[in-house]
Amino acid sequence: MSKESTTNFCDRELKMNGNHSHLTFLDLFCGCGGFSLGMERAGFRCLAAIDFNPEAVAVFKKNFPHVPHSLERDITAFPPRELARLIETKTVDVIVGGPPCQGYSTVRQRDGANSGPRMIEDKRRHLYQEFLRYVDFFRPKLFVMENVLGIKSAAGGKYFTRVQKEARAMGYRVHPQVEKAFDLGVPQKRRRQLIIGTRLDVPQYFPGELKPAPRAVEWPTLGEAIGDLPPVRAGGGEEVVDYDLERRKAHVGKYSRHYLYETLEVQRATKLTAHRARPHSERDLRDFAKLREGEHCAEAMKRGEVFEFPYDKNTFTDRYTRQHRNEPCSTIVAHLSKDGLMFIHPTQNRSLTPREAARVQSFPDWFQFPVARTHQFRVIGNAVPPLVAEAIGLTAKAYLEKTMKTKKTVLFGLEPLPSDQQEAVELLLALVRATDSKTIRQLPADEFKRGWYSIGFLYPGLHPDSALEHGTELSNAAEDFPEIRKVEPRLLAPFFVDSGWPVVLAPVAEEAWRRYEAGELKDEEFYCSEAVVAGMCCRNPDLIDGVRQEREKVLA
Ligand SMILES: C[S@@+](CC[C@H](N)C(=O)[O-])C[C@H]1O[C@@H](n2cnc3c(N)ncnc32)[C@H](O)[C@@H]1O
Repeated sequence: MSKESTTNFCDRELKMNGNHSHLTFLDLFCGCGGFSLGMERAGFRCLAAIDFNPEAVAVFKKNFPHVPHSLERDITAFPPRELARLIETKTVDVIVGGPPCQGYSTVRQRDGANSGPRMIEDKRRHLYQEFLRYVDFFRPKLFVMENVLGIKSAAGGKYFTRVQKEARAMGYRVHPQVEKAFDLGVPQKRRRQLIIGTRLDVPQYFPGELKPAPRAVEWPTLGEAIGDLPPVRAGGGEEVVDYDLERRKAHVGKYSRHYLYETLEVQRATKLTAHRARPHSERDLRDFAKLREGEHCAEAMKRGEVFEFPYDKNTFTDRYTRQHRNEPCSTIVAHLSKDGLMFIHPTQNRSLTPREAARVQSFPDWFQFPVARTHQFRVIGNAVPPLVAEAIGLTAKAYLEKTMKTKKTVLFGLEPLPSDQQEAVELLLALVRATDSKTIRQLPADEFKRGWYSIGFLYPGLHPDSALEHGTELSNAAEDFPEIRKVEPRLLAPFFVDSGWPVVLAPVAEEAWRRYEAGELKDEEFYCSEAVVAGMCCRNPDLIDGVRQEREKVLA
């Protein structure tokens, strides 16, 4: 991290004292804007969005006319410096983005193309580096990268590890977490990997769990999301039609108004758009008719149904699936643009329309998709559900506001903190010795805390939460700190590649968790961000001067 960025941050942050009305973000690989919509709803302002797909950008522009720069550009050929020139600033609070996921998708693991000896080189796997290139240039306080779960296992976890390692090397703490869309109010089984980075000089950890946005409903179902829409036949419907208000009334009588009015904001749409069903062959329509609600073809075959489709019936067991009204829908994916066979309507003999797919993704009804139906399906399936993005945005906003307001975090209220690196190493050694002799549980509270704060002081990139999942891969490639190496080389290596924790400290983190859960360590002691700031100030004297002045002012 550059000295300049650290100093600027602390000076500005200490003076801002809660003035946070203009939180900004960039949306990289923005697609049609699912992520942007949620971030905006959470109170962020989009400075620019970039995607190289003309249809995605057309949809984005239609729905975000106020965003000053919706750019159709190939990010690999568009350097961040050029973007900074366009938006006339290098200061952004957050960068979000979903580098394309096809290279990691689990669908392609079935044919061995995503892992193992038959792994096919896919350039899209490296697009995360473009994302990080922007992060490195703009140095936002926070970044959020969304991807499919497959990134964790692709190439034996190599890419997942690399993203984290490279972000850490750039001066970010990394918090990987899996987001379940259903828990956030989306009527869908979707699960995605988030990789969240917080800049090391931001004196707080990102909270581990996302809370649903207030507009979200509990236990959303497919029926609740689409049941008011007028029925259409396969190949039927028009791009723009009137709503069937009688049907809406009956629907609201059956379910609550909440999903329709709060999430989909139907009251803000004057016409119903994109409710046009794709045509299907007569053979497919006959096969669809054999499926009961909530059933896929393998289950129907077990009951004796005979299907006409030509695919291998042992491999493609859920190739044809009729969704169930009273359950969340299967994950909406971009493949919907090729066929809709896994997304057959619960009660009508056709696949879902783009509007239905958009509703399952929690896009509001006023959000328009003025492109051909195939492209509508693709951008909708590619999107981060706006409700998920809003939950991310609200958590990010609360986090950033807290870091701006919390004077206490820079006052070093935690006692006693190490005064320099040498003392921190000595205090930590007490824990390492106790781990070696398996007496760590017996260490008195004060002694344990002093050692624990020393971890925050010495290792700003480590997160107590990541100590819950170290992974198995080890590395010895620690940077060279000759003074520490002389005292205790195990404080540097080997370390777990996934979590970044030195192996020798893993039992210490376990013990800290035990004490935290038993109420023996308070929140601020366990997450000890003051120790992190103290360590950073110690390494950067410019910083500590600012912090000391601030402390004196407050104490005066
Ligand atoms: C998973 S989608 C992102 C969806 C978006 N986050 C949303 O919420 O709507 C990935 C996007 O990356 C875009 N993309 C892929 N390679 C790109 C590149 N080299 N430059 C710019 N955009 C690219 C694709 O066109 C696609 O829209």
